[in-house]
Amino acid sequence: MIVPIKQIVNKAQAGRYAIGAFNTSNLEMTLAIIRAAVKQKSPVIIQTSQSAIEYSNLPTLFAIMTSVANTVGKSVPIAIHLDHGKNTKIVKECINIGYSSVHIDASEKDYATNIRLSKQMAILAHKKKIWIQAELGSILGKEGMIKLETGEINMKDLMTDPNKAKNFVELTKVDTLAISVGTIHGSFKGIERVDQERLKKIRKLVKLPLVLHGGSGLNPQVFKKAIKNGVSIINIDTNLRLAFEKALKNTIFKESNIIDPRKILNPSTEAMQKEAEKMMRIFGSYNKA
Ligand code: G3H
Ligand code: ZN
Repeated sequence: MIVPIKQIVNKAQAGRYAIGAFNTSNLEMTLAIIRAAVKQKSPVIIQTSQSAIEYSNLPTLFAIMTSVANTVGKSVPIAIHLDHGKNTKIVKECINIGYSSVHIDASEKDYATNIRLSKQMAILAHKKKIWIQAELGSILGKEGMIKLETGEINMKDLMTDPNKAKNFVELTKVDTLAISVGTIHGSFKGIERVDQERLKKIRKLVKLPLVLHGGSGLNPQVFKKAIKNGVSIINIDTNLRLAFEKALKNTIFKESNIIDPRKILNPSTEAMQKEAEKMMRIFGSYNKA
């Protein structure tokens, strides 16, 4: 059942567990995430990136998420979120269509511009009682990884400064804060880490729910420690994609004569569901619906 994000995240923060925020771009991924939440009796955030919106178009994707959430997922609380909204146009579109939370990601801009845009979008979102997520510090992706490996950039320089974070949330009045503490978008096992000391410092100075992006590639102990140290939302995309891809290759390889798209996609949807369930158990959100 669709609920305001506030309802599930405030409860998670008080209960010291985290809500998984999982990316979708189509019906199968939506079914996998929501079925996982039902099976684990877990609250969940279902989110769409800008590229997912470009792939399926906003009204269609919003209708898929809402419809599956209110039917298949009617027994669990589900919030819809825009992930990494890089411009104000997409943020406004998602606010207007009825998302419960939107991410204005102006983290690549200079500090003053990030403050200005985040504040502007917060005012707009709050008029509709929608939550706004902003981002401070950089969370790298694949391209950034190369620069990291060649020593062109240093991870420490990209991480969120705790004092700046305090100042940032006071000035912008955002509701959740995406922080950079050592994770990377994608799954880079052994390279990704969480600077737990930095996280603790941020937590001390910032009372808002903190969002850990780039969750794929971390091990369960790291997640648990990060939750203990103050993370309330964990973004996971790649882990679910990998589960989907592995099952898809397996199905096509083993049963090359199947031509029914449902039979081709079903094992992948199931594999993705299992991966989301695994995450919900690690994050402690199971049985919290
Ligand atoms: O915004 C989405 C996430 O931060 C996903 O990161 O692909 O490393 O799980 P991930
Ligand atoms: Zn992210």
